[in-house]
Amino acid sequence: MSSIVSAAEPPVVGDIAGLRRQLDAWRRGGQRIAFVPTMGSLHEGHLALVSEARRRADRVVVSIFVNPLQFAAGEDFSAYPRSLEADRSRLAPLGVDLLFAPSEQELYPRGREGLTQVIVPGLSGQLCGAWRDGHFEGVTTVVSLLFHVVQPDIAVFGEKDYQQLAIIRRMVSDLHFPVEVVGVPTAREASGLALSSRNAFLSPAQRKQAARIHQALQAAARALQDGRRDFSAIEEQALQELRAAGLEPQFFEIRQTDLRPPDDATQQFVILTAARLGSTRLIDNLSVNCAGA
Ligand code: PAF
Repeated sequence: MSSIVSAAEPPVVGDIAGLRRQLDAWRRGGQRIAFVPTMGSLHEGHLALVSEARRRADRVVVSIFVNPLQFAAGEDFSAYPRSLEADRSRLAPLGVDLLFAPSEQELYPRGREGLTQVIVPGLSGQLCGAWRDGHFEGVTTVVSLLFHVVQPDIAVFGEKDYQQLAIIRRMVSDLHFPVEVVGVPTAREASGLALSSRNAFLSPAQRKQAARIHQALQAAARALQDGRRDFSAIEEQALQELRAAGLEPQFFEIRQTDLRPPDDATQQFVILTAARLGSTRLIDNLSVNCAGA
């Protein structure tokens, strides 16, 4: 495995044919390829994914594509931050071998209408999916398309998008993609606020308010660790705390790690929440292990 880390900005390729030529050459040389799909506006959380990819493979490919399919009507697709040159500079110290930044025309040459879709039913319609019509269908469609194009050995995703990661793992398993999916723990500010490209929309005062999301998750985690199993009451208390902090929570739910509802025998939980703060939608989650507690 290569340990050479160059400080050069990664070369950018926008077309699938050019990308495949480069990837084929690496594959012929027996090199393992790790892939980090992103929508750009890269922060430390993304850089942690890239560093994990770097540790695990000979070549690292990062993609930047703000995927219109995963934005519901009225969401922030046109306002979503785009900063290709700044992103490229941020990647420079990490030894990224190729930055794939296709246009919409390149990925969806026949347009969005009637495009072949990849859908993971059930898991995609709950939690965030219940609030963002078609969101996960857009994610699984673009990720499967990117997997076909890049054909990575490894793909790295953030655990901040817990539901997305669960859905992608399911898709990879159901469709027998020969890809190892790796999850990387959420990067946080000192306040506990999970790093997100959408934090760029928050004022300094809103950043402080947003930190209450992590505090509510921690309080619910403590309740579970203290042995409480009145899940609805814990969730309701958290919703009230978030509302009192000026947030508009969409859901706050305690689940099993595979996202099924918990029961009295459950020992490993994940608590997931989404809340609006002004016009910004924020998500976060916390895993709680009560085994041996
Ligand atoms: O997590 C993201 O940034 C996006 O959902 C992804 C996986 C790059 C697909 O567009």
